[in-house]
Amino acid sequence: MSNGNNNQPVILLENVEKIYKTKAGPLHVLKGVDLHINEGEFVAIVGPSGSGKSTLINMITGIDRPTSGEVHVAGQRLTNMSENAVAKWRGRNVGVVFQFFQLLPTLTVLENVMMPMHYTGTYKGTRRERALELLDLVDLPDVMDKYPSQISGGQQQRAAIARALANEPKVLVGDEPTGNLDVVSAGLVFALFEDLVAKGTTIVMVTHDRDLAGQIPRVEEVRDGQLMSQEEIDTRLVGGRE
Ligand SMILES: Nc1ncnc2c1ncn2[C@@H]1O[C@H](COP(=O)(O)OP(=O)(O)OP(=O)(O)O)[C@@H](O)[C@H]1O
Ligand SMILES: [Mg+2]
Repeated sequence: MSNGNNNQPVILLENVEKIYKTKAGPLHVLKGVDLHINEGEFVAIVGPSGSGKSTLINMITGIDRPTSGEVHVAGQRLTNMSENAVAKWRGRNVGVVFQFFQLLPTLTVLENVMMPMHYTGTYKGTRRERALELLDLVDLPDVMDKYPSQISGGQQQRAAIARALANEPKVLVGDEPTGNLDVVSAGLVFALFEDLVAKGTTIVMVTHDRDLAGQIPRVEEVRDGQLMSQEEIDTRLVGGRE
């Protein structure tokens, strides 16, 4: 469990390597990634398609594990945990938002948002109350009884964010959370993220959108299997553009 110690980064990756076994041979995607993210930071991960952004994000959420190296998130060392234990830990500590909203189609919006609290043993009355608060936060109270297929993509993503926040995670991770949204909906989601960061949530999001990344205080680029901060890139490119 996290002890709220501010000296310890809330996300800490040390020398993380990820090698996939493929038919064509080993594919070395992450080559010694070091990443320190402090509590309350808002970080964008950018880089070309296939560079390893999702792979990196999956290391942080524990959805996948490194070939070697260390991963600590919210005070927990993930690299020595069983898949089951990681899944349980994730449900309590990390909110995850994907490009394709991944709401459960047979549950209403309200039920989708209540779902994660089921696994943490939250009282039923509390679950409903908290879900209603979250839907209010993401500005969706009027669609709570609808099914995901009956609402727009932007609304689905806001519902998915409400669901990701159900257990009050310290860390919110997004893999192109605005990638499938129109500009207006993307703007709403982004504004919501800024509010959450202002309240102390740590957010890491992958984005292809350079304009959006430009509004995020810290930008890290995946390059040749390693991370380079936007500052380092800018310094190297003085006088030139990519
Ligand atoms: N489970 C897997 N098995 C084998 N190779 C994989 C696996 N997952 C990803 N890869 C490969 O690893 C590389 C990095 O993939 P990844 O999905 O992390 O890229 P990405 O930066 O997220 O790309 P995009 O912007 O297109 O989403 C790619 O070459 C991909 O084909
Ligand atoms: Mg990806």
